[in-house]
This record gives sequence, structure tokens and C-alpha cells, in this order.
Amino acid sequence: MGRFRLRISGTSPLAAMPWNLLAFGIFVMFGVAGAVMPTAAIAGPGGESQTAGGFSHVAAILKKNCLGCHNGTAKMGGLVMDSYATLMKGGAHGAVILPGKESQSLMILRLEGKVQPRMPFGGEPLSAADIKAIEDWIHTGAKGPAAGEATIAPSEPNIPNIKPQVPVTSPITSLAYSPDGKILAVGGYQKVELKATDTGKVLATLTGHVDYVRSLAFSPDGKWLAAAGGLPARQGEIKMWDVAARQLLRTLNGHTDCIYSVAVSPDGKLLASGSYDKTIILWDAATGKDLKTLRDHIDAVFGVAFSPDGKWLASGSQDRTVKIWSVATGERLYTLGNPSDSVTSIAFRPGSNQLAAAGFDKTIWVWNLAPDAGTLAQSLIADEDAILQIAYTPDGKRLITTSSDFSVSVRDADSLNPVAVFDKQPDWVEALSISPDGKWLAAGRYNGTLSIYNLQDYQEVGSPEVAFQTHPPAARVKQTASR
Ligand code: HEC
Repeated sequence: MGRFRLRISGTSPLAAMPWNLLAFGIFVMFGVAGAVMPTAAIAGPGGESQTAGGFSHVAAILKKNCLGCHNGTAKMGGLVMDSYATLMKGGAHGAVILPGKESQSLMILRLEGKVQPRMPFGGEPLSAADIKAIEDWIHTGAKGPAAGEATIAPSEPNIPNIKPQVPVTSPITSLAYSPDGKILAVGGYQKVELKATDTGKVLATLTGHVDYVRSLAFSPDGKWLAAAGGLPARQGEIKMWDVAARQLLRTLNGHTDCIYSVAVSPDGKLLASGSYDKTIILWDAATGKDLKTLRDHIDAVFGVAFSPDGKWLASGSQDRTVKIWSVATGERLYTLGNPSDSVTSIAFRPGSNQLAAAGFDKTIWVWNLAPDAGTLAQSLIADEDAILQIAYTPDGKRLITTSSDFSVSVRDADSLNPVAVFDKQPDWVEALSISPDGKWLAAGRYNGTLSIYNLQDYQEVGSPEVAFQTHPPAARVKQTASR
């Protein structure tokens, strides 16, 4: 989840670059950081002193104006500003701050527009006072935060996790119904809740995940659950849980960036993970061994799915393509290049060789797949804004899309026309799952709320609830389940 990146349009060469601004980058930094992290680590009004010339004042300026594009996920220009250390490390052109030499520091040159593009990119230049504050700080040695002084953003995952002061919520980043329909797994920040679908009660909380759980997949027999995520710019993580015992079976680490999508083969023997690092890994589910790394995408992989017969794996990427792979050999069979922007989600139509994909071009693409080629069966500019998620009902008759235009649409899978729309969603529906009997649609939102819709009468069941009321207590036991 949280996988969506905007592109900017325009005439500069930059216009062609993927624009990692949106979703998790921004959200984690501005939306969630304030909530899940100790307030003491965040520069802001209230807390710490912000003496001019000191780091905390500079940190506050950078946090407000720059961090959205220069964080561990977005990393524009290779520059990450979420800590003093990464800031000083610099970007694609090396150090951006030369202590004592403000007029030669790339940061100042960019802020003043002496080196183009001017920063903040595409936005209003900083005020003269703010630029001066940064200049003064560089002039006096660009010193780091003193003990207790504010840092830019608390992103270093190894820093001890200080308990939040108030109950906070996490966005819902993934959802999956168990094959028997009795459990709904809900993924969020560092944990997964298993909810009973009849009572709505939380049966267990699975903890110990390093970051957001961005994708969930049950084994076909429902015995285990794969929960995938990982640390942005570091590594992917899949935790496999014994569902009945609520016990961790094993942790699979691989990739050099987080995983956005995990899928289980129809025979339950393989796992596939698609990562921001542009690769896909096929794993042996029984041993956790990585069997093959599939490389051919030239940008982040946001969706992976096995064909119903298990012979093919499909992958959808920010590189605007969908690729079809042979599961047996790991070979790329062919590429579907119709989308004109990032592909955020893909789904096989049950009982068929049809594959649907959607993403930032607002279009649903459906292909008929053959062993050596795919032919476009259908396409429709479906929503007013980027499509976030797509899923077929188990009978293959309906296709559900969620969009950043704040709608969820239930569509006829043949015509793609909506048969029902749940519009005016209070926030983006980033997580979606349909119960195995096709009766219920679970929709999880960025703002942490979960809604269940009845797919027979298209009514919402009850009202939205906040899935993660509070964060785990301070004595968080790693990798164990608590009831
Ligand atoms: C909307 C996104 C965005 C915002 C906001 C933004 N930047 Fe950038 N920044 C970029 C992009 C894109 C690049 C890469 C530009 C290029 O290719 O030269 C970049 C590059 C840079 C670089 C050069 C890194 C290098 O080594 O090449 C510096 C320094 C920089 N930004 C500073 C800032 C500062 C300071 C702010 C806040 C005042 C800021 N940026 C806000 C998008 C942004």
C-alpha cells in the first residue's frame, strides 16, 4: 500500500521523472510521523527551543518545505533530509551543505535559484528570512542537533521507540479475508490484526513487523498468512504466521527496498514479492528460501499476482508496464505496454486467462493472456483520478476499483461499467479485500478506518470503525502474537 507516486507534467526534463511525492512519502512524514512517533523528536511549535542559527530552526524549515520530496521513500535528487546524518551525506551531486561555506553549498544555490531547478521544486521560493536562517546555520558550522534538540524527522528505525503520548491510529495499508471467510486480516503500522468476521472482535494482534504491512496474502488452505512490507530504502520483509496458533513461522528478508505486494501461488508452494527495488522474488513457502529474482522492470513493482492455474506470474510497475513471467523458469514471457502511467494494482479474473491492471492513467486495462502474447480485450478511462486498487469478485463477474477521487466502484467485469458506486469516501481506500463467498467488500482507508460493504444490496454494514485504536504498549514483544 501507500505506493502511489505522482508525476509532474511540464516541459522540463524532470517532467519525465516519476514523482515520488505522494502517498507514503508525504503521509508517513507529515501524517503519521506526528502520530506514531514521540513528539519530542519532531520539530514543531510547542516542544523544543528553536533558536535562530540552531539546527532545530533549520530542521523545522526543512521539514515544512522539503521533507515531502526528500525522505527515505521519495529521495528526490538522491537527497534524504529525515535526519541530520542523511542531510549532511548529501544527494546525487554529493554534499549539499559545506559547513562554513554557505555561498558554495548546493542547498543555498538551489534555494536561491542559482542552480536550477530551484527548490522547493515547483513551489514558492522560501522567504528571505528562512534562507538566511539556513545560511547562518551553515556559516556557523552546520552543527547537528544538540542533545534533546529537535531533529528533522524521526525515521531512523533503530532508535529506541519511545511510546506515543496519546492514542493514535495507523492507516490501513492492507486487508485480506481468510479462505474460509472467518477472519479478516488488517495490516497497518508494524502490525496485523486478525478480526473475526462474525463479531468484528480482534482475535489476535501479530506484531514485530519493521514498518507498514503493505500487503497480506493467506495460503490457499488458510493455515498461514504472509504479511509483507519492510523498510524503505533498506530491505523487504515477509513474515509468515501460523494463523491458528498466532505464531510466527518464519521471516523472509530480501530485496533492497520495501515490498508493496505479496502473492501466494494457487498450490500454496510459492510466494512472490514485488518491491520498490524493481525486482520480484519467488520464494519457497515451505523453507523461506528465495528461489529466483525476476529482473526486467525498470521501476518499482507495485503489484504481483499468480494466474489461476499457477503457471504465470503477472507484475505491474511504476515503469508503466505489466509483465508476464513463467513461474517454472522465471523467464519473462512478454510485456504489456498499454498503460500510459504507473500501474498500481493488477488482478487475474478468476476462472479465466484475463488480467486487469490499473493505475495513474485512471484507466482499467484488461488483456486476454496467451502463452506468448497478450491482447487487449477492453480498456476504459474509469475514474476521475488515479486508480489505487482493483480486485475481482471470486465469481469473476464484478470488478471493484478504488480511486484517489475518493470513490469505490463495483463494475460489471465485462463492460467495466459501474453497477454501484460508494462515493465520497472520507479518505483514499488503499486496501481492499472481497470475502471468498463474494458477499462482502472490506475497504481500508488512509485515515485508519475500515468499512464493510454488502455486495448484494450495496449497503454499508454498520459504520466505519477505526482499526488500530492505539499503538502497542511500550514493552512491545518482538515477533510474538498477543491476544
Ligand atoms: C516537490 C518536490 C520537492 C520539494 C518540495 C523539494 N525538492 Fe529538492 N529536489 C527535488 C527534485 C525533483 C530534485 C532533483 C532535481 C535535479 O534533478 O536536479 C531535488 C534536488 C535537490 C537538491 C540537489 C541534490 C543533489 O545532490 O543533486 C537539493 C540541495 C534540494 N533539492 C534541496 C531542497 C530543499 C532545501 C528543499 C526545501 C526548501 C527542497 N529541495 C524541496 C524535489 C523537491
